[in-house]
Amino acid sequence: MKKILFVTSEAHPLIKTGGLADVSGSLPKALAELGQDIRLILPNYQAIKRSENVHYKSTLRVNNYDVNILETRLPGTDVLVWLIDCPEFFDHPGNPYHDEHGHAWANSAERFTLFCRIAVEVAMDRAYLNWKPDIVHCNDWQSGLTPALLTLEYHRPATVFTIHNMAYQGVFPSSTYQSLNLPGQLWNPNGVEYYGNLSFLKSGLVYSDRITTVSPTYAKEIQTAEFGCGLEGLLSFRKDFLCGILNGIDMEQWNPETDTFISQIFNDKTLSQKQLNKTDLQNQLALPVDPTIPMIALISRLVEQKGIDLVLECLPEMLDMPIQFVLLGSGHKNFEQRLYNFAESHPDKISVNIGYDEVLSHKIEAGADIFLMPSRFEPCGLNQMYSQRYGTLPIVRKTGGLADTVVDAVPQTLADNRASGFVFNEATPGTVMEAIKRALILYSQPKTWKNLQANAMKKDYSWHKSALQYLKLYHRL
Ligand code: ADP
Ligand code: GLC
Repeated sequence: MKKILFVTSEAHPLIKTGGLADVSGSLPKALAELGQDIRLILPNYQAIKRSENVHYKSTLRVNNYDVNILETRLPGTDVLVWLIDCPEFFDHPGNPYHDEHGHAWANSAERFTLFCRIAVEVAMDRAYLNWKPDIVHCNDWQSGLTPALLTLEYHRPATVFTIHNMAYQGVFPSSTYQSLNLPGQLWNPNGVEYYGNLSFLKSGLVYSDRITTVSPTYAKEIQTAEFGCGLEGLLSFRKDFLCGILNGIDMEQWNPETDTFISQIFNDKTLSQKQLNKTDLQNQLALPVDPTIPMIALISRLVEQKGIDLVLECLPEMLDMPIQFVLLGSGHKNFEQRLYNFAESHPDKISVNIGYDEVLSHKIEAGADIFLMPSRFEPCGLNQMYSQRYGTLPIVRKTGGLADTVVDAVPQTLADNRASGFVFNEATPGTVMEAIKRALILYSQPKTWKNLQANAMKKDYSWHKSALQYLKLYHRL
């Protein structure tokens, strides 16, 4: 049995802005089921949803701040969670990265440096918790200083750093580094310094014993200039210590047979029941109720990564077709506004829902026929897996985890029942439209479509296999 400290800035259902929370809420559960002693550490944000009891554990003084450690559990599990309570930094309205008005926190570097320092104290068993991990598993830039600071300790635990997204790096001016009171020996071009700035992500990549990322294809892509976001050289240099482990999904939460958020449960044998979810959604979103019209959906952060600009370019042509388009997301104001404009001019065809809505996201997965995910890059992506589980066939670009989880419907894969969606290569409006048209042709052939849905719904995206791969990695350290 390994003792693992899982360092993360979000974990569902406590706090979520994206897929990192889904992974942090489900991978530890899977590792606990494999008999591992895993504990999470995350900041005690004001927005955290606490449904289990919270106990005070200890108080530490770090870099002139008094920090309390509170203990709770990942709701619905036995997995222990330590909340780093420093009201000065975390007790404010907003999410982990933005204030309530959507502006990035001006003191992000300070907030997450404190978080990393506390993770080190816990990892070294200096936080009065009477527990020392064998492995410290860090995630994304917010945890990036932890492996660096741990290299300065004797008898330290081994470290793993998982990249969920190379595009977010936590880069701050060198003056910030000085004000943070961090050890001078980490400040060099082979350390946390990145072209004269402080890079939290680089810190994680340089100092951790092993690097993983969330799909095998992304592990290869990030060693190239196109996807490496400036760190491809470092990643190729460390390639023997880098591997891709595909994310799993929480099979209980995303299960069309038991989902309490949807109006009608169903499985691959009762696919006709799925229709009722579509009707329900059409009613809720004030779209014309029509069980036969193909409904295309998109649920996403509205940012460049997700190919929202491509969708905007396709919309005029899409809206000339006999389809309905349902979107749920939030992000760049410019994307939000342009999407609203389309919704205003075509209220009978498109429903644009700006905001974050977990219940609606389940209803859309259950009710739609097709899920659009034309990402420019996608480290793993979870919605294409949720969609397949709900018989909602994804249209994806061949990149990262999308390439690893969706099998394109071509004659060969249709014949051997492997096809589970539609895959295109280039990130252009033309290729997206071509894939949409291919999907609509098969949608008009009910028997073929049902087979495709059944193929998709039968796929196993549970964490078990991937959790075993993490375990193997921990044992090698
Ligand atoms: P990323 O982490 O890059 O945003 P993923 O596909 O890995 O992409 O995960 C996104 C997660 O966030 C999914 O669980 C998705 O359903 C959820 N999500 C994104 N936007 C919204 C929204 N507006 N409302 C509800 N859930 C959302
Ligand atoms: C990131 C990526 C997404 C991935 C998620 C969880 O947010 O953008 O592709 O699924 O992390 O690993």
